[in-house]
Amino acid sequence: MRTQVAIIGAGPAGLLLSHLLARGGVSSVVLETRSEEYVGARIRAGILEHSSVELLTSVGLGSRLRSLGEQHRGIHLQWPGSRHHVDFTSLTGRSVWVYGQTEVQKDLVAARSADGQEIHYSVSGVVIGDDFVKFTDSSGSVRQLDCDVIAGCDGSFGPSRHAIPSPQVYEKVYPYSWLGILADVAPSTDELIYAWHPNGFALHSMRSATVSRLYLQVPAGTDPSSWSDDRIWDELAARLGHGQNGWKLTPGPITDKSVLPMRSHVQTPMRHRNLFLAGDAAHIVPPTGAKGLNLAIADVALLSRALIARIVSGDTTLADSYSDDALRRVWRCTHFSWWMTTMMHASGDPFDAQLQLSQLRWVATSEAGATGLAENYAGLPIGF
Ligand code: FAD
Ligand code: PHB
Repeated sequence: MRTQVAIIGAGPAGLLLSHLLARGGVSSVVLETRSEEYVGARIRAGILEHSSVELLTSVGLGSRLRSLGEQHRGIHLQWPGSRHHVDFTSLTGRSVWVYGQTEVQKDLVAARSADGQEIHYSVSGVVIGDDFVKFTDSSGSVRQLDCDVIAGCDGSFGPSRHAIPSPQVYEKVYPYSWLGILADVAPSTDELIYAWHPNGFALHSMRSATVSRLYLQVPAGTDPSSWSDDRIWDELAARLGHGQNGWKLTPGPITDKSVLPMRSHVQTPMRHRNLFLAGDAAHIVPPTGAKGLNLAIADVALLSRALIARIVSGDTTLADSYSDDALRRVWRCTHFSWWMTTMMHASGDPFDAQLQLSQLRWVATSEAGATGLAENYAGLPIGF
């Protein structure tokens, strides 16, 4: 088998890259260890920033997003006794969209079928060479895919990042996790609520007019089964301020419950010879700033341009600067996600708590403070 770009991983980074390359006249084959059903059902991110929506729309992937997604002007920031709306649109002219990663994945799978690019699910034994990838296909046959370039879009547990020799790894592990639930109940809020509380952070997000997504800060290593549904709703009500100024949290049936560990991780460089990393394969952010999926989209926007220029026109300038170009945005989002995380989560230290409250009051009430949050949350331009 031969293709121009071998893409490892059929998450949002791999499938979007395949679609962008096809539009630029470059062929690709995607290899994925999991089944199509498994990849399509994973519940993950829920917020698309302004540039992600613009990019998806510009490449023909905006129609379901614009009919099923919900455009938000900003977020609510709160702490006991206070709730403030930070209006990104009036501060920066930008907005965000609530549109689940599962829906993005469906759009990408449909686009891939239309592009006619090959994809192999349920592969195993992926071995990365300089201009080939070996793998075992779903029927057990060992195959070799020859290629010009390999795109490592295989997330934080895939083999691609280990194929970069002597990388520099930067990592911060947080002592808390998120207990996330999906519930069949209309959201109790118009826009997301990020709540600071002495018991720990809480977030009220959503997936649609009838499905809510909520999170609670819990100690790292928490077993989700140790939290009964009643305990979850009671704690969400306390942290999100049920009863505060007449606001009510409406509970409903919980359909999914999981614990997400939190860490910041960046591996550099994002390229070695013909291997280019994109998305979670190169970096992980804690979810507080809603950046993981958006960073994966921004990486492949840069990578697709670089590979099309290299393969179609023989111009290697963008490919040579890809790692530095992508890392500028990666570090901005890594800082923003760390800042949101450390501002919002209880650490148990009363000094930290007072600094957090002081910072929150400044962000919520100063135009300069609010604009900084708005610009980073709604997202900087792709080429930032
Ligand atoms: P992935 O989506 O991880 O895709 C990588 C793919 O590579 C996977 O399908 C994997 O099966 C495949 N793969 C792995 N190894 C191999 C191999 N050897 N060969 C072939 N394929 C392989 N972000 C947010 O912004 N908000 C959130 O609320 C949020 N929640 C999350 C919850 C969880 C449990 C996780 C894990 C992540 C969450 N994220 C969230 C992060 C966000 O989902 C990711 O940043 C995003 O999925 C990155 O896309 P990706 O394509 O780079 O990686
Ligand atoms: C989500 O809806 O899953 C979500 C929203 C905002 C975040 C993280 C997760 O910061």
